[in-house]
Amino acid sequence: MIIDITLSFMIIDTKLIILYNKYDYYRIFICGKEIFMAVDIDWSNLGFGYVKTPYRYVAEYKKGKWSDGRMTTYEKIVIHESAGVLQYAQTAFEGLKAYTAKDGRVVTFRPDLNAERMNRSAARLEMPALPDGMFMEAVEKVVKANKEFIPPYGSGASLYLRPYLFGSSPVVGVKPASDYQFRLFATPVGPYFKGGVKPITLRVCDYDRAAPHGTGNIKAGLNYAMSLSAIVEAHALGFDENMYLDSATRTFVEETGGANFIFVTKDGTIVTPKSDSILPSVTRRSLCYVAENYLGMRVENRPVTFEEVRDFEECGVCGTAAVICPVGKVNDHGNEFYFPSGMYEMGPVIRQLYETLVGIQLGEIEAPDGWIHEIKLDEEENSGEEQTEEQAEENAQEE
Ligand SMILES: Cc1ncc(COP(=O)(O)O)c(C=O)c1O
Repeated sequence: MIIDITLSFMIIDTKLIILYNKYDYYRIFICGKEIFMAVDIDWSNLGFGYVKTPYRYVAEYKKGKWSDGRMTTYEKIVIHESAGVLQYAQTAFEGLKAYTAKDGRVVTFRPDLNAERMNRSAARLEMPALPDGMFMEAVEKVVKANKEFIPPYGSGASLYLRPYLFGSSPVVGVKPASDYQFRLFATPVGPYFKGGVKPITLRVCDYDRAAPHGTGNIKAGLNYAMSLSAIVEAHALGFDENMYLDSATRTFVEETGGANFIFVTKDGTIVTPKSDSILPSVTRRSLCYVAENYLGMRVENRPVTFEEVRDFEECGVCGTAAVICPVGKVNDHGNEFYFPSGMYEMGPVIRQLYETLVGIQLGEIEAPDGWIHEIKLDEEENSGEEQTEEQAEENAQEE
């Protein structure tokens, strides 16, 4: 709900408070100090889209050195018209969630793996690695500063965190930029399965997602830009997602545009495709561990041919957003086949994996050491130099 107040005044305890909401929160000034309060968000009806939160983190890499990170309220970025990111797509990102666990603690799930993947993406795109600790500092500061936007336990919603790194200085010839920015913003997102689980439909895609020895195994923006026409086309044809095959032989299953596959054989073995051109999903690696160590299942990570897919008992796609989303049906150029659990429910093994991992994430089931990272909200907030919108604009114009 957005409350339509553009400017109002209240007197409380003889202190002047000015309230106004530009987006989905109030900015409240108490004796000169600015406090943000989320307006009554209907967590269960939030989608997966951008909702502005008050604070974001920014650090700059110039002359071969990273600056300290700072917080800013300004959500826009002014960069050079010939910046590396604009001309040659020199950018990589990550995605993770902060949420409230059963015991009320605010946590993130295995953020160290996102930090590590970010640096691998950076290396492949000739961008500088982040200094030790910067990724986690950004996560901590942004979550604490936007704490009003962390959904409560049980809502299924979360505060999605988007770290990203890009070349900001001008390039004309094809070469790496010399300056970079690392940023992290947060946006609240709703529960993935609203109104119950709905298995999705896939079509085998004629476009390729990644070449052998290409960039499919990193989280580069360019991998997603080239998948856009494939997903628009899939949606227009009535499918939810694309199943990409390996581009060299078109015989092996790779992944979808935003999730890894997880299959279950008739004898209950978990099978996940092995390929150097798919993104090493944090969720998939966690599910495989859970299957083996919590549920006593057999797990195989091996090349999977498209031919064998129709013989699997269950199929799901996994990633941070949904944990696992069941697949009901696959369409290969008009030849359709359904998995036995069909279009109405999750198969029993996928359900067990889903419930166990979600239980671990929410603190209902004991987690392996180091998987749950607590963010202590009562520790110092908004530390680091804070930039006003006006300063940000001025700095951008000076550069
Ligand atoms: C191409 C691709 N594969 C897999 C995943 C799932 O990865 P994760 O479980 O780390 O979110 C994502 C999402 O980030 C993705 O974009």
